[in-house]
Amino acid sequence: GRVAVLLGGDTSEREVSLDSGAGVLEALRSRGVDAQPVDGVPALLAALQAGRFDRVFNILHGGAGENGTVQGLLDALGVPYTGSGVLGSALTMDKIRTKQVWLSEGLPTPRYERLAKGADLRAAAARLGYPVFVKPSSEGSSVGVFRVLSEADLAPAIEFASRYDGELLMEQMVRGDELTVGILGDIALPSIRIVPAGEWYDYHAKYVAEDTQYLCPGLDGEDEAAIRDLALRAFRAAACSGWGRVDVMRDRERGLQLIEVNTAPGMTSHSLVPKAAAQLGCDYAGLCWRVLEQTL
Ligand code: DAL
Ligand code: MG
Repeated sequence: GRVAVLLGGDTSEREVSLDSGAGVLEALRSRGVDAQPVDGVPALLAALQAGRFDRVFNILHGGAGENGTVQGLLDALGVPYTGSGVLGSALTMDKIRTKQVWLSEGLPTPRYERLAKGADLRAAAARLGYPVFVKPSSEGSSVGVFRVLSEADLAPAIEFASRYDGELLMEQMVRGDELTVGILGDIALPSIRIVPAGEWYDYHAKYVAEDTQYLCPGLDGEDEAAIRDLALRAFRAAACSGWGRVDVMRDRERGLQLIEVNTAPGMTSHSLVPKAAAQLGCDYAGLCWRVLEQTL
């Protein structure tokens, strides 16, 4: 059948998605798949109504592509697609409510405060204790993330909060190792430990820097088994399926702490799930094929 590679869109992660989508498109074509790019949800709807595609490889990052909107549209039209369904997509696009589900299942995640519009950031930080992160509950790729080491650095976050319409998450900062676990079907891929050359794994370290180090597997022996098990439980507790990526920190005292789930993870040349799949001998095109296979 004909496959739409849904990419681009109008979110802050548009450029990342165009990059991911170009990689996926080339990989699927190299495997003999009749695949075409489609930029954004309105264009997809028009193409589906014209009968141009039988299934969708969804590599839109953020917004309608990752929050259940596209998933609901495709369910209603009866068109198969890659990745999680409506519930898992909608839930994990909201970092605050994802944490609430994890906590209700006894899964570890850093302490946090939900900041509705107009919330007092200073009071919330005082309750949590510095250092904290302040971030939009529903963005990706570290867009709009503030690191607040002490009250003196709170001003930029307060200024951002005054302009931002959505909810913000304030989270206790975990000091330790930054890890991520790709999920493919029913298995957790080997973890990756990220060692940015600077202090932080921010947008630049994610997509631009060539000196970010990636260690895979990220942990040894029992620790590696534990992080994979935790990631898979966290993914399932959040009603996710198909493929995705669970971001985890390892705190020096409190151990593994769940950060978030990405249901349409990056597939750029710098991205993490392809590196983890490669560790199992599955190359980039093989990974795209395995993800697409879930729609067959
Ligand atoms: N949100 C970006 C694309 C990621 O998780 O890889
Ligand atoms: Mg994300």
